[in-house]
Amino acid sequence: MKQSLLILGSMLTLGFPATINAEIVNVSTPNTSLILNAEKGGSLKILHYGDRLSATDLNSLSEAGASWRDAYPVYGILPQGEAAMSVTHADGNMTTDVEVTGVETKNDTDGSTVTTISMRDKVYPFDLNVNYRTYPGEDVIETWVDVKNNEKGTVKLNRFMSGYLPVRYGNVWLSQLYGSWANEGRVSETPLTHGVRMIKNKDGARNSHTSHGEIMLSLDGKPQENTGRTIGAALCYSGNYKLFIDTDDSNYHHFFAGINEENSAYNLKKGESFVTPPLALTYSDEGLSGVSRNFHRWGRNHRLHDGNKERKILLNSWEGVYFDIDEPTMAGMMEDIASMGGELFVMDDGWFGDKYPRDNDSTSLGDWVVDTDKLPNGIQSLIDTAEKNGIKFGIWIEPEMTNTVSELYEKHPEYIIKAPKRPATQGRGGTQLVLDLANPKVQDIVFQVVDTLTTKYPGIDYIKWDANAPIMDHGSQYLTADNQSHLYIDYHKGLEKTLDRIRAAHPNVTIQACASGGGRANWGILPWFDEFWTSDNNDALQRIYMQWGTSYFFPAIAMGSHISASPNHQTFRRIPVKFRADVAMSGRLGLELQPKNMTDEEKGIVKQAISDYKAIRPIVQFGDIYRLVSPYDGKGVASLMYVTPEKDDAVFYWWKTETFMNQQLPRVVMAGLNPDKTYKVTELNRIDNEPLSFEGKTFTGKYLMSNGLEIPLTHKVDYHKNSDYSSRVLRLTEVK
Ligand code: DGJ
Repeated sequence: MKQSLLILGSMLTLGFPATINAEIVNVSTPNTSLILNAEKGGSLKILHYGDRLSATDLNSLSEAGASWRDAYPVYGILPQGEAAMSVTHADGNMTTDVEVTGVETKNDTDGSTVTTISMRDKVYPFDLNVNYRTYPGEDVIETWVDVKNNEKGTVKLNRFMSGYLPVRYGNVWLSQLYGSWANEGRVSETPLTHGVRMIKNKDGARNSHTSHGEIMLSLDGKPQENTGRTIGAALCYSGNYKLFIDTDDSNYHHFFAGINEENSAYNLKKGESFVTPPLALTYSDEGLSGVSRNFHRWGRNHRLHDGNKERKILLNSWEGVYFDIDEPTMAGMMEDIASMGGELFVMDDGWFGDKYPRDNDSTSLGDWVVDTDKLPNGIQSLIDTAEKNGIKFGIWIEPEMTNTVSELYEKHPEYIIKAPKRPATQGRGGTQLVLDLANPKVQDIVFQVVDTLTTKYPGIDYIKWDANAPIMDHGSQYLTADNQSHLYIDYHKGLEKTLDRIRAAHPNVTIQACASGGGRANWGILPWFDEFWTSDNNDALQRIYMQWGTSYFFPAIAMGSHISASPNHQTFRRIPVKFRADVAMSGRLGLELQPKNMTDEEKGIVKQAISDYKAIRPIVQFGDIYRLVSPYDGKGVASLMYVTPEKDDAVFYWWKTETFMNQQLPRVVMAGLNPDKTYKVTELNRIDNEPLSFEGKTFTGKYLMSNGLEIPLTHKVDYHKNSDYSSRVLRLTEVK
């Protein structure tokens, strides 16, 4: 169905109260409606966001109790409530009072439509446009604002949120992600109570370790995976953010999201404009998973770089060898991953540095030349080895950073972020510094790092772009004294400009956004990146929890998920390779170990997993997610599935999260299948001596979705192979 945007005329024909001059703007997608009133000379009101309204309901909306709240509240007149924008005008006036001046709609080449409601302050030449971009195929509406200062002097933006949404007061629950390094993507679900709930980030460079700029609001009480009215919101920004929900004495929970304005007031000189990052909104009556499916489709089709291209199965060298890089070791790893069916080898940290070789994390960032002691024949020889093995080659860089021990810092100490009159705070390795991307010269350097590598070595297929430090001092050596508060924002503007240049020159290189593990899982950075590194913690059991949360907002295709060694390097837990593979296969599969240390049996299991993953890759990477049993519910099992849009093929994952004798686990009921279709069940990654009782059998979608299948609690393997872990991956293929 086509997206429709209608300006429906006056209230008289629509039955609105005679005192209100309605100019209804209907920003709809096939299944959702956002209804505004944009009467010229009045203030922009939001009437409804949620399920798509029929013409009949739209006509009676006012009588039904529409919200009629300012769609984008500004600060100053009756300033009791929270505002989305607060401004100090050129003459010092802190009040803003805008009125609608026009409404315009434009169709974009990607099938989206942008509706812009223009507003201007009633007494100042200060323009504020509120924009809505609708994606009909995905039921997502992005909103953002742009402002222009036409006043005589500088206007200061004190707060400049991307969007506001009133949500009717009720039994509304907030789902959010929290965590820390090596424990990213944890799920928290709590009811909204009176007062303010704030989610914010102040790292400066990375923004998804401790919290996330995405939330869901379940409108029907405790969140359910596949039922219930649910709103999803994702702030598409890579820097500091602030999301908050103010539940006051009105009938609404007031949701705001945007750049974190703390210590970041932005000065607009006469004639200058400011555009906020978009806030993506979606709505589904199919619960949390319904919102996830919308975000995943929208992300793949419109935000993730090359979101519709299959990702390769890779081996990354980090946990295999850490800094101990040398040519024979790299060659051995390439041979091993190729022999297991992998498609790409990535050489992680430790390959560079001439005057200061990178042997540990305290030197060399910024000196992106090969260390010829470790790699005497250079990068090209590694690419040749990869080619000989029939695989691709990738490389690690951390271009936004330097160390005090580096040639770059020796030559250009003025390029780092530091406060005047104080020594720069040093991070990782005791010497790491952040380059000042607000400075165009630094932007050039970062561009050149990538451009030089990929131009000189066209065989580089993949870049792991790391960022292992926060902005540690508030100080730019480039920005003027009166614009120091621009640092956090201009850093990300500089990063975006640089990434634009990189992508224009090198559209086909796969680039991973890594930042101390999962510090850059956000929709602000992903337009330039093909994926993100989910976490530095590769423990398969803990990954179930982290990937579960991450999947709320991000699709499997973007979620780097690797089979690591046992005992695990972070938790020291010993987990059989079958379970490790079954978890890693639910994201973008890779390996993070030294294959030389694997037994032949383990290699065999991984080889099988890689071959099985190749068969299901399109389902996992492009399918619709249905989360079934949450690990957070403590039922002893976690389970989810991916289903093709045509519902003719699906993969079902079942992981036991705890083991007790004679424990009782729930029988998992499936979702997302076509009840009228018949599916044949095949187990993947099988290690059991005999097949499952339902192997090769056929069931209707209806049966699988009302009853599920009885999964045995343990594997039937030789005695010495028994372990306390159990997992299953089942493929369900339509029988035509
Ligand atoms: C942090 C990343 O998250 C790791 O995967 C690894 O690339 C190291 N940096 C290398 O220093």
